[in-house]
Amino acid sequence: MENAKQITEYKLAKEIFSLSRDILTDPKALRMKEFTQHGNTSVFEHCVAVAKFSLLIASFFEKVFRVKFDRKSLVRGALLHDYFLYDWHDPDPKNRIHGFTHPGTAWRNACRDFDINKLEANIIRRHMFPLTPVPPTHRESIIVCLADKWCAICETFKIDVSSYLIDRVNLRIAQAEGLETGLVLPIPVVENI
Ligand SMILES: [Fe+2]
Ligand SMILES: [Fe+2]
Repeated sequence: MENAKQITEYKLAKEIFSLSRDILTDPKALRMKEFTQHGNTSVFEHCVAVAKFSLLIASFFEKVFRVKFDRKSLVRGALLHDYFLYDWHDPDPKNRIHGFTHPGTAWRNACRDFDINKLEANIIRRHMFPLTPVPPTHRESIIVCLADKWCAICETFKIDVSSYLIDRVNLRIAQAEGLETGLVLPIPVVENI
């Protein structure tokens, strides 16, 4: 019997995957697995975790204050907010200003590789506020900005709050890749919630 937290994570993983299947099955986006973000966490894992907490925050405001969010743009912006595709730990002098420059790099890469709408662009470009001085101007951008800080703290102090969901997202990616190659992986019953 799965507990309530696990079922929530299954549902969130399913929503994240269904809203961004084109991104999560694109080898260019999956290159984020090659680079470390905070602690032992890859950039890919960090972005999936930010998408998860962005959805949780949005769900809270939707339930409590009846505020509507563009959940698709929220997830896609969160997944691509750190799509800079290099190792910022590399002791190259240009990486000293990574904190200020990577939102722009991620946005340019995202525009090059995917169809990005204006809201997703705002999410990506403004997520480092207040380190970068221009604040986010949409509800979804503010949420990703907050979720990003929370995930960065957890990852830096090695507090595991997302590995279960990340495993579920990776399973869905593997299943999608299997369908393309004819190698179909078994789908756990609970995955169909
Ligand atoms: Fe970032
Ligand atoms: Fe981030």
